[in-house]
Amino acid sequence: MLESEYYTSPQRFSADLQLMNRWWQYLGHQSQIPQRGDYLLAGLAGAEVIVARDDQGAIRAFHNVCRHRGLRLCDSRGSVKAALRCPYHGWSYDLSGRLVAAPNMDGTEGFDAALYPLTPIQVDCWNGMVFGSQNPRHPLAEILKPLTPLVANWQIDSLVVAASLDYQVAANWKLIVQNFSECYHCPIVHPQLNRLTPFRSAENQIAGGGPVAGGPMRLAADAQTMSTTGQLAGTPLSSLSDEQKRRVYYYSIFPTLFLSPHPDYVLVHRLHPAAVDATRVECQILSGGDQAGAGAGLKAAVEFWDQTNRQDWAMCERSQQGVRSPGFRPGPYSDLESLLAEFDEFYLKQIEESSDPIRS
Ligand code: FES
Ligand SMILES: [Fe+2]
Repeated sequence: MLESEYYTSPQRFSADLQLMNRWWQYLGHQSQIPQRGDYLLAGLAGAEVIVARDDQGAIRAFHNVCRHRGLRLCDSRGSVKAALRCPYHGWSYDLSGRLVAAPNMDGTEGFDAALYPLTPIQVDCWNGMVFGSQNPRHPLAEILKPLTPLVANWQIDSLVVAASLDYQVAANWKLIVQNFSECYHCPIVHPQLNRLTPFRSAENQIAGGGPVAGGPMRLAADAQTMSTTGQLAGTPLSSLSDEQKRRVYYYSIFPTLFLSPHPDYVLVHRLHPAAVDATRVECQILSGGDQAGAGAGLKAAVEFWDQTNRQDWAMCERSQQGVRSPGFRPGPYSDLESLLAEFDEFYLKQIEESSDPIRS
């Protein structure tokens, strides 16, 4: 396990945000901005970005900051016909980021609106999931290559965000990643989860030496999915193999995304690190829009994951309380925690490389 300062030092946290800027982070699902003019807000390594569908239907992202005097431009998701208008002095931007109106600036000598577009963020899509990055080291498709064939049958691009949960967790983001990466704690912390997928059934399909890690757990004989009833929300998602219908898959994607395909829905956890000891966690359930019985079944899945999430966050918060103690000394990992050891190693390598002046 990492030393205390990795979870408690504000300087370390700033360095973490820097390294996150070199990776891709999930901003939202394309179904959340279906029409031209739709936009949502998302966190990106300490910044806030507007993710919008422009007049041509392309998805773009910008810093949520007015180019005049820096006002936070939007304060919630929405939809606009023509332009986003800053509520301070009325500078207006179309959804390709161009400054299209700047009232009363005619008297300002040499003012050229073309020089003040919204500051863009690189975006890319994978299976309908929109990712953003400030300065990516690798193309998104390359990072997600090992995962692409494994999740193809879920047709994630055809799903919609059916439910969304939001949490404030008083823990460092890495403690949440580490908690997600093992089921050693499941029999004690999640008896309801352990009944549906016994913790010893976990396998690692993709080892943790790279940015993507994880694998499946087998459903117990009488369980069909993860929900308070253990029964499916509707029919299993189309095109799943018989094996995929009997498993739940848990993948972590460095640095802030967990993707968990189930037989009848896909669970997404996105971390928004806010401070060295504070992380907002957004949890989405993506499902097919037209599944029979999805209402009641979906409620059972949401309740199940809300309970499980809260159990996890309680442990992450207690970990944070422990690791900041002068009495903390990192203990040994068990063989059920191999992904944590590999995560630590991968993370340390990123820190080392991002502070290398030649590479940065
Ligand atoms: S700060 Fe946005 S128009 Fe002045
Ligand atoms: Fe857990």
